[in-house]
Amino acid sequence: MKTRVLTGITTTGTPHLGNYVGAIRPAVRSTQSGEVDAFFFLADYHALIKCEDPARIARSRLEIAATWLAAGLDPDRVHFYRQSDIPEIPELTWLLTCVTGKGLMNRAHAYKAAVDANRDKGEEDDDGVNMGLFSYPILMAADILMFNANKVPVGRDQVQHLEMARDIAQRFNHLYAAREPLFVLPEAVVDDAVATLVGLDGRKMSKSYNNTIPLFEGGAKAIKSAVARIVTDSLEPGQPKDPYASNLLPIYQALATEGQTETFVKSLQDGLGWGQAKAELVAVIEAQVAPMRERYELLMARPDDLQDILVAGAQKARSIAAPFMAQLREAVGIGSASGIAAKSSGKPKRKGPKLVQFRDEAGLFRFRLLSLEGETLLISPPQADPKQAGAMIAALKSRAGEVALDMQPGTGYQVTLDGEVLGVAEAGLDEAQYQARLSDLTAALQELGD
Ligand code: TRP
Repeated sequence: MKTRVLTGITTTGTPHLGNYVGAIRPAVRSTQSGEVDAFFFLADYHALIKCEDPARIARSRLEIAATWLAAGLDPDRVHFYRQSDIPEIPELTWLLTCVTGKGLMNRAHAYKAAVDANRDKGEEDDDGVNMGLFSYPILMAADILMFNANKVPVGRDQVQHLEMARDIAQRFNHLYAAREPLFVLPEAVVDDAVATLVGLDGRKMSKSYNNTIPLFEGGAKAIKSAVARIVTDSLEPGQPKDPYASNLLPIYQALATEGQTETFVKSLQDGLGWGQAKAELVAVIEAQVAPMRERYELLMARPDDLQDILVAGAQKARSIAAPFMAQLREAVGIGSASGIAAKSSGKPKRKGPKLVQFRDEAGLFRFRLLSLEGETLLISPPQADPKQAGAMIAALKSRAGEVALDMQPGTGYQVTLDGEVLGVAEAGLDEAQYQARLSDLTAALQELGD
């Protein structure tokens, strides 16, 4: 079987160049060899943990989906879907929640960071912490384990979550796997070579540092103006520069060929001015981004088509998730009801006589005892309170062996328990019917008593 590679993208932001270089481009490339079975999804349940702006979530989902497709992801070759289109994921999340120690979640970095921030401010530890944030690693484990992924490409900050996913998988396997383990233990893949692109100020390119170069948003103009803000030293054109100390080179290198990069290094050493160097950087970015931007804009203009692609992706993913979920439900003892009946008795249960409650013309509550053929064997006296009728049914079921059957004048009979009449024969029976009902009633009472 091919290695299964899976990763999720939280749908809160708009992809920037750092996301493209660090995550999207390597992921798309990894699928092009056809050697991996890839699962990429829009983690919109995760987005709800930190974003309460519905428009932002919806917009981000479109932007991210369009970005991945524009970057060359072929939805026919991979599984590309939206997390919230797979109902088996929250279902699995609950099964995993029930085997996850609270202590494990207490140790999760994201939660601990929130607690530390609260302590610094003198607030209560859990101030502003919702249960989504607290149990976030369990949802993430469900994303991964649902498809038994082998490899999970993530940033360094996510490695702990992978360790937790393994812990949870192991515990579940230990508790519920009969022979073969149910879950594969996933491995984090952190590629340090591509994991982080530096931003305008030399720190990691990140929205939270406000140092990003946009990918598609704002077009070529926005790229140019971001590059203009890259921090440099104040050497003049003609003065030799140290390319390795500049913030331009790592970005240039991430987008250019080796040959181009060598030339760029040399030119800086020879005194290329920062203005010119920035123009060359814009040129290499544009060379990669411009053709993708065109595809991106086409996709963004047709959100319905995008939606169709995601729905088809979800169908494909569910064809794996649904049968696996059925197996997992079975493993924990909540398999389908028919499955349980078949298991416990070996053969299907034979239908017995039926007790059915109804309301008569006067609106009062009664019940009938019906034979297998549906003939009325007994009708109860009317009751004002449905609970009273229910109690009589229960008594007849549990104490059927103790009732007395009395013949009445003509074609009548009645059944009593402790002197209370539980039911009488249907009115207007002829002699033959009377005899048949009587013998059916005796058999039915016997069967109820067994
Ligand atoms: N938590 C991840 C992040 O913030 C996104 C994510 C959600 C994910 N589910 C996942 C990544 C499953 C890998 C596998 O980056």
